[in-house]
Amino acid sequence: MAEKPDRSAASLWLGTAPTTDYAAVSGDVEVDVAILGGGIAGLTAALALKRRGLTVAVVEAGRIGNGVTGSTTGKVTSLHRLVYTELAASHGPDIARAYGQANQQAIDHVARTVAAESIDCDFRKVSNYTCTEDPEALGRLRDEADLAAELGLPSTYTIDVPLPYETRGAVRFDDQAQIHAVKYLQGLARAVHGGGSFVFEESPVRHVRDRSPAEAETDGGIIRARDIVVATNLPIGDGGRFAERCLPHRSYIVGSPATSLGADATFISADEPLRSILTTVQDGTHYLLVGGEGHPLPSSGGSAERFDRLAAFARDRLGAGEPAYRWSTQDAMPTDGLPFAGPISPASQHVFVITGLRKWGLTNGTAAALVIADLVSGHANPSAGLFDTNRTVPLKPPPSPEAPPTEPPVLKPGQGSVIDADGERLAVYADTEGTTHSLSATCTHMGCTVQFNSTDSTWDCPCHGSRFSLQGSVIQGPAAKGLPGRGGAEPV
Ligand SMILES: Cc1cc2nc3c(=O)[nH]c(=O)nc-3n(C[C@H](O)[C@H](O)[C@H](O)COP(=O)(O)OP(=O)(O)OC[C@H]3O[C@@H](n4cnc5c(N)ncnc54)[C@H](O)[C@@H]3O)c2cc1C
Ligand code: FES
Repeated sequence: MAEKPDRSAASLWLGTAPTTDYAAVSGDVEVDVAILGGGIAGLTAALALKRRGLTVAVVEAGRIGNGVTGSTTGKVTSLHRLVYTELAASHGPDIARAYGQANQQAIDHVARTVAAESIDCDFRKVSNYTCTEDPEALGRLRDEADLAAELGLPSTYTIDVPLPYETRGAVRFDDQAQIHAVKYLQGLARAVHGGGSFVFEESPVRHVRDRSPAEAETDGGIIRARDIVVATNLPIGDGGRFAERCLPHRSYIVGSPATSLGADATFISADEPLRSILTTVQDGTHYLLVGGEGHPLPSSGGSAERFDRLAAFARDRLGAGEPAYRWSTQDAMPTDGLPFAGPISPASQHVFVITGLRKWGLTNGTAAALVIADLVSGHANPSAGLFDTNRTVPLKPPPSPEAPPTEPPVLKPGQGSVIDADGERLAVYADTEGTTHSLSATCTHMGCTVQFNSTDSTWDCPCHGSRFSLQGSVIQGPAAKGLPGRGGAEPV
């Protein structure tokens, strides 16, 4: 692995881990199972399958950890705010119990994997709290704590919350954990690569073909496999099926130097605005992470103000300094609250999918990956029904498109805008010199019109969350192809 780069614009986890340098796909490859995506879901599935004696190839578009997992908060927990009350009301107590058990088992799986593979990823056991400052919310928290305990989870209601500002009470789960997510993924990748199995980086998959053998096509070659697992967060190769079943939801995190909170614990508020809190020590510096400000796409309001509000909370409530890291990412929220792991379509025999991890993918993604490993290798898994991909769920229509102006706006350096030029929608950006650059504004996923994100200087699709660089390359799917330049060149 290469030296640590200076990536202060990226997440604290990416900024404090070395980078990986696995080769790109170069020539055709044959394995038992190809896994698309090197995040928690893909790498967990890959290692589980390799341990069952199958050869695997993980095919990652960028570098290991560059996706959502590398920008997570880092909690490995089955306490997902007030999820048990929500799931018991919407799906019944048996589903709530199954969800809790799958997530508890995922914590154990992560702990065992860290030990078995000697992964140095700051894994540590902590208590996790869902807390409130609102006396009127106490009843709801007590109900959640009681329900979770009835479901067999390590749950207690408490008024003793180890935070330096006043809270009224909390649900506490003991024996939960936190990790350095990028180092964990890198440890998984190390264990996957070798012995006839591969990790490929810088190899975006452009097409998935559900045939026998199944095929994943990259620019450098085709991976042929008996089965393919699509673990690209929101899937590629599904014809847009899961785009109707999952909503991309964005959240923001600041990482600030701070004195230790003095408690081995992680926290999330039951109140709005949601605040998620975790502490970590990296290279001898204590950092406090505060997350929140989540919203569905498309966004209203700028990222800068959201980061400022999180930084103010970290400073005013928790005594933190100015943020050294600010980052944001988005995850797929399933419309019925349950993740998906199974065949990518009712007819599919050889292509499987993991998605809809509902912002709790360190455990949900681990649990879903273990379901897939069992399905692919022909074993029963008690969570397979919970994550059934063919269940009936509410479908969500994409947002209505806004008509772009036909008159080109005057763009200042650093600004971008979508214009209608002779019936074609163009994404036009003015660089620091004031020179304009034009791309097609039509998202390559399913044809929505991208919007300019002025904080991150990216082109973002409001429909299912694909993000593109100013050069048009894919930053985040489900799009698998970049926005073509006006001259017709197709970026990667
Ligand atoms: C702000 C925030 C905080 C969170 N905090 C927590 C937390 O504390 N605990 C928790 O449990 N969960 C948390 N989550 C959720 C969790 O981080 C995610 O659910 C999880 O990381 C998603 O994992 P994944 O494997 O599905 O996706 P990813 O990590 O994004 O992995 C998918 C990979 O696929 C690659 N890819 C995409 N397209 C292609 C292609 N065409 N070809 C090849 N590769 C491709 C991507 O580059 C990426 O690396 C948080 C989410 C957010 C948004
Ligand atoms: S149309 Fe689906 S992400 Fe753009």
